[in-house]
Amino acid sequence: MSQAQKLILVFLFVGVALGNISNEAPYSTKIGNQTIEQTTYYFTQKVDHFDPSSTDTYNQRFTVYSEAFNPANGTVFIFIGGEGPQQGLTTGSGWYMLVAQQFSAMVICVEHRFYGVSQPFGQGQDAWTVDHLKFLTVDQSLADLAYFISYIKANNFLRINDRNPFITVGGSYPGAMSAWFRYKYPHLTIGAHASSAVVNAIMDFQQYDYQIYTSTSLSGPECPIKIQKFNEIVEEILTQNGEAAQNLKTLFKAQNLQNDDFLSYFGDLWAGMVQYGKRTVLCDLFAPDTFGEQLKLVVDYAITQGNQPVDGYDTQSLTNTTYVANESGRQWTWQVCTYFGWFQSANQVQPMRSRTVNLQFYQNQCNVAFQNFQNFPKSDLVNTFYGGANLQAFNIVFTNGVEDEWQWASIRYPQGNMDAIISNCTDCGHCVEFRYPKPEDSPQLQQTRASLIQHYTKWITEFRNNQNDNDNSNFIEKMLKVIRK
Ligand SMILES: *[C@@H]1O[C@H](CO)[C@@H](O)[C@H](O)[C@H]1NC(C)=O
Ligand SMILES: *[C@@H]1O[C@H](CO)[C@@H](O)[C@H](O)[C@H]1NC(C)=O
Ligand SMILES: *[C@@H]1O[C@H](CO)[C@@H](O)[C@H](O)[C@H]1NC(C)=O
Ligand SMILES: *[C@@H]1O[C@H](CO)[C@@H](O)[C@H](O)[C@H]1NC(C)=O
Ligand SMILES: *[C@@H]1O[C@H](CO)[C@@H](O)[C@H](O)[C@H]1NC(C)=O
Ligand SMILES: *[C@@H]1O[C@H](CO)[C@@H](O)[C@H](O)[C@H]1NC(C)=O
Repeated sequence: MSQAQKLILVFLFVGVALGNISNEAPYSTKIGNQTIEQTTYYFTQKVDHFDPSSTDTYNQRFTVYSEAFNPANGTVFIFIGGEGPQQGLTTGSGWYMLVAQQFSAMVICVEHRFYGVSQPFGQGQDAWTVDHLKFLTVDQSLADLAYFISYIKANNFLRINDRNPFITVGGSYPGAMSAWFRYKYPHLTIGAHASSAVVNAIMDFQQYDYQIYTSTSLSGPECPIKIQKFNEIVEEILTQNGEAAQNLKTLFKAQNLQNDDFLSYFGDLWAGMVQYGKRTVLCDLFAPDTFGEQLKLVVDYAITQGNQPVDGYDTQSLTNTTYVANESGRQWTWQVCTYFGWFQSANQVQPMRSRTVNLQFYQNQCNVAFQNFQNFPKSDLVNTFYGGANLQAFNIVFTNGVEDEWQWASIRYPQGNMDAIISNCTDCGHCVEFRYPKPEDSPQLQQTRASLIQHYTKWITEFRNNQNDNDNSNFIEKMLKVIRK
């Protein structure tokens, strides 16, 4: 055997070992009026795709819904996981169950490295040290997906074969990944759905806060004004730093937060409601005219449905390098501090959060979390590498909700071979079309979903046509037909 042959063998062996897939018992999920089965698998993934000498691997979790899949004519939807544990299909992504059934498709939800149980450096005390987090980059994550997709195609995983086109799907940061995957690895998929896709890295992201003003104004001009007044009173109480301040924080179970962290939590309370389609609920909390009455409603909401527990807003907690199940705070802080930015500062025109929540606040957070961190976001570089708002790729559909703060980091209008749809409807926020459809969904939202289906149908038809053109398997028959003519 020659040296080259030996090398090829070694390479093949490593390839097989890397791709090894194992699975758990299937589990049931109820979505709408259906109960579906999904199966969780683990894929032996490379830790470092860019160091040819590295052989380190980790188990990357993914979940498969394949009951509707037909290997003869089905599509494979890769649902990209983001900055949190990957849950498989749920009611929140339930529309894709219906899409899968319509396209005889399989949906594979892939967990993002460093989130959930997909931990390149294990689940111990040093899982999230700075040295380890260096492997938490979007380039590595996109390469994970490329490697995973190539592997399951090449190994006919669950009878996937070259009759099955792939489409990526993602919402928010994974929405951007879905778009960037088309840009970087266009040969592996036929198209992408990029929902609320934040492809534009922006360091001082004041547009986010300003959209809270715009969205709440849809409930009438008094709604944002009342929220601003309320914020001012809260800030005044905190500034006095007395018993009243402590009592106020205690109402929100946030007595352990420093004032600046509390104000950041508070800004996110409004932001989260607007982002997730609860703008009208938010403005209802401000129907009363007195601070006391408003506070009562706000506390009620915050405790029962708000961003509780508040521990994640404690800047000190971000310093802990120990793995904690389902925790994402430190990892996501790493991604924004080193790369994306998207710091949700108070806007200077109509601030909807305390002005103390500014770029300096976030940069201090980076400093504390990663010990004298000097390497602030390279938002401009991200945009250099992937194009930002000037991304150039083809067969992508961008979708945004008209009330969503994140739309200003996305692509809102069609450009080139990329379509863009805004769901212009009441309470239409982040990734709104993913949800299992409700009968009362607005015609605009229904139209967004119908347009996506049209795009998928077109891409799949083109894929089949190309495949038939390239198919030489019945070459002799074709030749004979030509000769007989
Ligand atoms: C795949 O994983 C299983 C279970 O961990 C193990 O028994 C098997 O040897 C592995 N196969 C390869 C090729 O690595
Ligand atoms: C499930 O709900 C959908 C629409 O909500 C309806 O069209 C369908 O008939 C229902 N299926 C069953 C089995 O009830
Ligand atoms: C795939 O083929 C099956 C069996 O012929 C058919 O029932 C199904 O509708 C087809 N699916 C698509 C997406 O064409
Ligand atoms: C870090 O988190 C771990 C797991 O929650 C905990 O056991 C440990 O006490 C924390 N370390 C510090 C310094 O707070
Ligand atoms: C993590 O979240 C999952 C899904 O919500 C849950 O089933 C699991 O129990 C959680 N794990 C821990 C240790 O809290
Ligand atoms: C949404 O619809 C409203 C009312 O029809 C219109 O004034 C507004 O310009 C639309 N917004 C977008 C972004 O299309």
